[in-house]
Amino acid sequence: MFTLTILRRWSMLFGLATIAWLPISLFAQGEPAGDELLGTGKYSDFEKPEACGTCHVDIYMQWQQAMMSQAYTHPWDEIEYFKLAVPHAEKEPKVAGVKAGCNGCHAPTAFIAGDVPPPPPSANSRANESVSCDVCHTITGFKGEVPFNYNYTIKPGRVKYGNRPGLKSPHHDTKMSDFIRTTEFCGTCHNEKSPFGVWVKATQLEWKEGPYAKEGVRCQDCHMPAAPGRSAKMAEPQKDVRQHLFHGAHSPSKLRGAVELRAHPDRREAEPGEDIRITVQAFNHKAGHKIPSGSAEERQLWMTVFAYDSEGNKYHLPVDKKGFEGEEYTISSKTALAYQDIGEILGIPDFKGLERDALPYEGDRIFRLPYFDPKGRMTIAQWNTASLGVDYRIGPRETKIETYTWTLPDDLPPGKVKIVVEMWYRRLVKSVGEYLGVPEEEMKAELINRTETWFEVLD
Ligand code: HEC
Ligand code: HEC
Ligand code: HEC
Ligand code: HEC
Ligand code: HEC
Repeated sequence: MFTLTILRRWSMLFGLATIAWLPISLFAQGEPAGDELLGTGKYSDFEKPEACGTCHVDIYMQWQQAMMSQAYTHPWDEIEYFKLAVPHAEKEPKVAGVKAGCNGCHAPTAFIAGDVPPPPPSANSRANESVSCDVCHTITGFKGEVPFNYNYTIKPGRVKYGNRPGLKSPHHDTKMSDFIRTTEFCGTCHNEKSPFGVWVKATQLEWKEGPYAKEGVRCQDCHMPAAPGRSAKMAEPQKDVRQHLFHGAHSPSKLRGAVELRAHPDRREAEPGEDIRITVQAFNHKAGHKIPSGSAEERQLWMTVFAYDSEGNKYHLPVDKKGFEGEEYTISSKTALAYQDIGEILGIPDFKGLERDALPYEGDRIFRLPYFDPKGRMTIAQWNTASLGVDYRIGPRETKIETYTWTLPDDLPPGKVKIVVEMWYRRLVKSVGEYLGVPEEEMKAELINRTETWFEVLD
């Protein structure tokens, strides 16, 4: 009796372990993944998203609104791929692989069909389907130790892999997949290594070493929240249908409040001519990874601090330096130049570069990770990244403290001084966007949080 129970427990444990392990490693052994997938199939192996949308109405509308459906077509993607990546790949052997490789994540069906480069978005080809329903729902696992650079294995066909067992559909077979519910599934596209072997996207790796992994809070739990409803118009209602929101940096409501702010002065009363020190806490309370994550090469998260005296005059306060190595990249400058590799890629002789930060004020703290090209200059070309600078982003549940020491002007009027702290986010460095003709909205500064504190100036 006793041994039997033990045996049963063993086999249960073993069975579970096998299920968790099989789709990831064993099945994947002989199948192509990553670069091996190039040209292994045809567009017609995959169904169009509109076909899925006839029954999965809400999910289709959500997907259409998410960046997943625009990963190939949206203007900045088109510009970076066709203006920079393709020409660069054609003249620089070291990065030749990205001509096809970008699409392993941005237009997987084009990659699998071997359509390199695919027609531009205006041609309305099937590459425009971007990361489609049928891509994600026919992915079966990944090959290797770490998910990255589209190393998923994929079996397009009648079986759609989902999150529930035993469902019936008039259009296809369904199969419960453990893999689709893991963060490794997302990691196959959300971790990326450059041709120089540098991690240029590491959202899933950041998550894995952070607090949410230990608590079992996955990507899906924050980006595909569960809510009651029907997953298809003829389906039975469920308590927890996964919403296909995939909301991130393009969603102001997702960004808003992602970093919480508090501030205090070192005392409540001061006299003109004295130093006063404001301390600010910036807490990443909402993201399961660093902020910014993903395309960190082009994202800017920065903090601006103003003081308003009792007569309403405004003063901009620069951040106190901490003195760590590489700090200069984390403080906004009006004169620093970067992105000289754009000139090389476009074949412009004597290209001096573009404004590195293009922010309104000098001396603001920028929470960022600088990417460096093979010549050590800051780049927004993640595929041309040979090394990284200091990682001064805000980790999941991390709090960064910044101080602002202000020597009060001699003529500061008596009365209350209000201190306003603002946290801003921009998806694409403005100088780069403007130079390459990217639509204004891709460079829009979003105010993601603000806080206030005060002190009193004595007579
Ligand atoms: C003719 C209607 C119809 C079409 C077209 C259709 N489906 Fe379905 N699908 C269903 C129904 C019904 C279910 C079962 C839902 C239930 O019982 O909760 C289902 C289930 C699924 C599931 C499993 C869901 C789970 O909870 O595990 C996935 C995944 C899926 N469909 C993906 C797709 C994809 C991808 C396409 C397009 C290639 C597609 N479906 C096209 C009707 C359809
Ligand atoms: C980026 C990958 C991705 C794309 C694109 C995608 N899905 Fe999903 N889908 C998932 C994941 C992951 C889940 C399960 C999440 C979980 O359970 O943690 C899911 C769940 C589902 C479910 C079951 C929902 C439920 O909880 O009952 C259906 C049905 C479905 N997807 C259909 C679609 C259709 C239709 C499209 C296109 C309009 C689509 N999916 C696009 C990743 C994707
Ligand atoms: C605890 C909730 C939470 C979890 C878990 C989580 N995210 Fe996020 N994610 C957020 C929030 C909030 C934002 C918006 C702030 C930002 O852009 O970083 C975000 C932003 C993003 C962005 C846009 C990043 C940028 O700055 O461009 C991507 C991509 C992303 N998440 C993918 C993932 C993936 C992949 C996982 C799993 C490995 C994951 N997220 C896990 C909450 C979460
Ligand atoms: C087949 C590749 C692929 C898979 C698998 C994948 N993604 Fe993505 N994801 C992308 C690409 C490509 C983009 C960038 C789209 C763009 O902005 O061009 C993206 C963008 C995002 C964003 C940012 C959207 C924004 O508003 O900026 C979030 C959030 C996200 N994915 C979450 C997830 C989650 C969660 C999973 C796993 C359930 C997942 N992704 C799986 C390819 C993938
Ligand atoms: C390993 C998968 C992968 C590869 C390979 C890849 N990308 Fe991406 N790309 C993503 C993901 C995921 C995001 C979204 C990250 C985020 O939101 O922060 C993204 C974001 C972007 C964005 C920013 C979109 C925006 O709206 O801000 C551009 C532009 C882009 N990629 C272009 C490219 C180009 C060009 C290449 C090839 C040189 C490439 N990508 C290769 C996965 C990939």
